[in-house]
Amino acid sequence: MSVRRASHADAAALSVIHGVSFDDGWTTADFETWLSRPEAIAMVAGDARVTAFGLALEAGADAELLTIATDPASRQTGLGRQIFHALDAEALNRGLERWVLEVARNNLPAIGLYKSSGFVEIGVRKAYYRTRDGRVDALVMSRKVGPVSGQDDARPAYVPRVPLTPGRHAKEVSVIEQRCIEKGLRMTEQRRVIARVLSQAEDHPDAEELHRRAAAVDSNISLATVYRTVKLFEDSGIIERHDFRDGRSRYEEAPDEHHDHLIDAKSGKVVEFHSEEIEKLQIEIARKLGYRLVDHRLELYGVPLNEDEKK
Ligand SMILES: CC(C)(COP(=O)(O)OP(=O)(O)OC[C@H]1O[C@@H](n2cnc3c(N)ncnc32)[C@H](O)[C@@H]1OP(=O)(O)O)[C@@H](O)C(=O)NCCC(=O)NCCS
Repeated sequence: MSVRRASHADAAALSVIHGVSFDDGWTTADFETWLSRPEAIAMVAGDARVTAFGLALEAGADAELLTIATDPASRQTGLGRQIFHALDAEALNRGLERWVLEVARNNLPAIGLYKSSGFVEIGVRKAYYRTRDGRVDALVMSRKVGPVSGQDDARPAYVPRVPLTPGRHAKEVSVIEQRCIEKGLRMTEQRRVIARVLSQAEDHPDAEELHRRAAAVDSNISLATVYRTVKLFEDSGIIERHDFRDGRSRYEEAPDEHHDHLIDAKSGKVVEFHSEEIEKLQIEIARKLGYRLVDHRLELYGVPLNEDEKK
């Protein structure tokens, strides 16, 4: 059974499964709205037909699980757990830190699924749900995002093994680290290493590449820590995230002076450039449209000129 991201086209199927699973099922239009939200994390299982799905929302550093449901005929075959794993992988990918959910106290299959997936109860909301049989409490449950074993926070203190190579900003305190200090971010040793690796990067690495470089300095640094840290740096305006259409988020130190990017569509190489003419033209275009330009992003995509074209 394959599990994939849900798309807009799945809204009707999700509404059917939700409708047979809950008293107050959501409509196709409800699901279309949920699925169009960028903070939605939605997964479906099924090949020809959708048989299970899960929907979560990104809320700050939390992933809030809104619902998981399996078609009644396919329950207890492992689909619910597969869906949760897929949601968890996506939450990790987005750099989220903690799962939270509410579940009716009498929903034993769901509580079974959550407990067996590592959730623990962290609170109770009294008489939270209204059901046909009256009001029922909600249990609030939580767990960290990512595999439950191998909690990186519990790992031993960082001991640098390989010195960082000199680079663009290889000073005692890297530019990114300095900005973190100025913004009052708590700096752990692992964050410091990731900050330095990022400050030294001459390219625009993605999280996997950053992890490779950071783990060469401190093998205790996990990919999850890298995701969390770049999200924190990005949210604080310390680094910039780019999406150069290759399905990967790439990062760079937020530049002191503005530049744009040209992406080699063949090799993925990213070239930085600055053009006063373009800068002026953009201000002018915005002005003519009745706006004062406050920000912009320009990405050019190209392939290298062949010998004839160079002439
Ligand atoms: C809760 C629900 C999503 C579970 O989906 P599922 O595909 O049947 O779950 P899985 O087969 O992956 O089971 C995973 C674990 O859940 C628990 N579980 C599933 N069904 C259970 C049941 N009827 N009773 C007790 N525990 C159950 C078990 O711990 C199971 O692990 P195990 O098989 O190793 O014991 C499904 O019952 C459902 O759609 N219910 C209606 C909608 C709902 O209540 N959703 C959750 C609230 S938002």
